[in-house]
Amino acid sequence: MGNEVLSNLMTESEAFPPSEEFAAGANATAALYGEAEADREGFWARQAERLHWETKWSQVLDWSDAPFAKWFVGGRLNVAYNCVDRHVESGHGDQVAVHWVGEPGDTRDITYAELKTEVSKAANALASLGLEAGDRVAVQLPMIPEAIIAMLACARLGLTHSVVFGGFSPAALRSRVDDAAAKVVITSDGQYRRGKAAPMKANVDEALEGAATVEKVVVVKRTDTDVAWTEGRDLWWHELVGSQPPEHAPEAFDSEHPLYILYTSGATGRPKGILHTSGGYLTQAAYTHDAVFDHKPGEDVYWCTADIGWVTGHSYIVYGPLANRATQVVYEGTPNTPHEGRHWEIVQKYKVSIYYTAPTLIRTFMKWGVQIPASYDLSSLRVLGSVGEPINPEAWVWYRENIGGGAVPIVDTWWQTETGAIMISPLPGVTSAKPGSAQKALPGIGAKVVDDSGAEVANGSGGYLVLDRPWPAMLRGVWGDDERFRQTYWSRFADQGFYFAGDGAKYDKDGDVWLLGRVDDVMNVSGHRISTTEVESALVSHPTVAEAAVVGASDPTTGQGIVAFVILRGNVSRDEAKGETATAALRDHVAKEIGPIAKPRQIMIVPELPKTRSGKIMRRLLRDVAENRAVGDVTTLADSSVMDLISSGLRSDK
Ligand code: WTA
Repeated sequence: MGNEVLSNLMTESEAFPPSEEFAAGANATAALYGEAEADREGFWARQAERLHWETKWSQVLDWSDAPFAKWFVGGRLNVAYNCVDRHVESGHGDQVAVHWVGEPGDTRDITYAELKTEVSKAANALASLGLEAGDRVAVQLPMIPEAIIAMLACARLGLTHSVVFGGFSPAALRSRVDDAAAKVVITSDGQYRRGKAAPMKANVDEALEGAATVEKVVVVKRTDTDVAWTEGRDLWWHELVGSQPPEHAPEAFDSEHPLYILYTSGATGRPKGILHTSGGYLTQAAYTHDAVFDHKPGEDVYWCTADIGWVTGHSYIVYGPLANRATQVVYEGTPNTPHEGRHWEIVQKYKVSIYYTAPTLIRTFMKWGVQIPASYDLSSLRVLGSVGEPINPEAWVWYRENIGGGAVPIVDTWWQTETGAIMISPLPGVTSAKPGSAQKALPGIGAKVVDDSGAEVANGSGGYLVLDRPWPAMLRGVWGDDERFRQTYWSRFADQGFYFAGDGAKYDKDGDVWLLGRVDDVMNVSGHRISTTEVESALVSHPTVAEAAVVGASDPTTGQGIVAFVILRGNVSRDEAKGETATAALRDHVAKEIGPIAKPRQIMIVPELPKTRSGKIMRRLLRDVAENRAVGDVTTLADSSVMDLISSGLRSDK
């Protein structure tokens, strides 16, 4: 059945209610919606009681300096104590916190007691470097236990971590290190990728050449890759951390103490450092992990397949699950190393009961074929999650049938780096799930679909997704740039005081929310946010490129694929430029500037770009070309013959 046919069939018609048994045992019940509506602050105060507070708050929310929120004002807590020590103190030290699975097949089980020792030693190590609460530490690590330990050690000391995805280029790492003025960088010698050891420290060395703020680089040994060594700056993790005492007394910090910065692409070229703080963030991460995944500590085995370098790894590998005393799988490698059944082999071995992944991976599994999951025992699974982009109904149904045995609830969770935690999602024991719809704001959260003027649209209509009230895990700003924070998120609907998410959405006839993708110049490639301007800047920094325009074209596997239209400089002959090598060189250049995830799927050399009279590139028309559609309305173009030129140029290339 074609995608479109299926989505039309599914839309608003078919729904999958939870089984009676699941509903009866679920953590979150329908009553939560009403409770939260009746007394929103009281509701969030009850959620905050999930945590251990050294000093209780005096006020739940201070919104007097909007859009800068303060949650649990006056409260003090230690985030790492909440994620580790208290579980040991309550008698669960022997429970496995992490079943770690290395790509080459090595494994490591870490109990909460062991995690406490490791985090304490790492905290002592970072303190010995002279770091103090409030200092920034950059982390670029593969998916190894030390990544989690490093983040928690920072949290324990009140250091603000800035985790940078392992696939980012030296240039991208450097701009993040500089922006946050990080004093220490934690990395590894290398990382395993698709069965091979790839260097990591070498990239960090390149990135840090001349970096003014960085005093120390701490290096985890993972692949035994040879590394260059800067005496006085570089330290081996196993030597530095290995020699520390195993006890460390955690100090309580203010509820609004900065916990981390995480950079994300926006509509303009420069990535922005999204700032998250402690008490409210941990409250919502823990609450949502409990309510949305129905997580039962000591019973479930949870697995979120995200990388620690993205927000999903922060909230749903580190902070939410560990605050809730989860036993979780952490897997280092790619899903097809050494074979395409790797994930299902792991589910079978560890009896994973909650599995949280991205639509792009589900579509990849579909491509690999049903026979692969069918040859493993997946009967331990009881909740499946999806995040990162809209999930097409076909993938949703495939996921439920072939991974969930036709019976398991699926939660399609909408949220963002900026929101810190899940905002819109079904509740697995309550909601009659509709394939492709994230459905409803969670209890305690306010989301609306509005038109240009900020008025809520009617059921059956579309518009912009906004959040109409503050939430505990909301970003507290853009690092070092209050103006950009206001401009990006709060200026579009300033009169109403709405947070503008940058996503389009619609209500169906029942008022359920369907996400429709970004409305700004942000692309979503395999669930990763990449801005068109960032890729354009990378392209025009190449000596052969005069001008570039980038669009996200729909892609059956990755959601969107990056398609670039490039005008070459006059001195580069067209014939020379047409060669495979020229476009391959440009693709490599983008990978070098930003990272392999930003490599254009396709580069088209064109003589002109379509522009309005005011000089704005009309990406809509380029998207038509990239998606092989008839080109739409060209009447606002300064020169309407440009599209003919582009199309005919492209035809003659074939
Ligand atoms: C998109 C990832 C539809 C959306 C947690 C959002 C989604 C951006 C969904 C945030 C979903 C995320 N359905 N779209 N369930 N989840 N998105 O910051 O466009 O990497 O604005 O956070 O991903 O991406 P980010």
